[in-house]
Amino acid sequence: MLANYYASQTAMRGMVSKDVRQLVLTVAGAEKQLEGAFSPSQTKEASQNQQQAKLLFTKGNPERGIPACSTCHGPDGTGLESMKTPRLSGQRADYLKAQILAFRAGRRTNDMGQMSASVKNLRYSEIKLLTRFLETWDPQDKEVAN
Ligand code: HEC
Repeated sequence: MLANYYASQTAMRGMVSKDVRQLVLTVAGAEKQLEGAFSPSQTKEASQNQQQAKLLFTKGNPERGIPACSTCHGPDGTGLESMKTPRLSGQRADYLKAQILAFRAGRRTNDMGQMSASVKNLRYSEIKLLTRFLETWDPQDKEVAN
């Protein structure tokens, strides 16, 4: 009896650890599959966001009263001497976002009204898109620049 009991316990223990191992493998496999399923679409979304932001930067949106940022900040966002505008590309997204919001709210006013007028019609999502794009935009990097 006791021997049987021990035998069944041992067998169960064996089964349990086997099951656990199987479970771990299953989870690991599922994770791998998920990675595979997500990364290409995430990459696609990221590049669509980059394109959308770049379009907004270089063309603006005339119907919505948004001028092209590049008119004043240069085609590659490095600032224009003639316009006395700062470089935007390569600056931290958080910093840029805070400046845009400050211009909008009238808390930063050293722009002769140029910035507050330029950014007042931007959606918040577009501000995030633009500033994330500018942070990583390396005008030398043809892949992103074109
Ligand atoms: C009509 C010209 C003009 C346009 C168009 C314009 N800006 Fe500006 N922007 C300025 C000027 C001028 C300043 C700098 C003011 C100062 O500090 O001397 C500035 C400053 C900024 C700053 C602050 C940068 C820093 O280093 O503090 C950000 C961010 C910015 N602009 C983003 C944008 C974005 C995004 C767009 C497009 C939606 C845009 N600007 C369109 C003229 C313009």
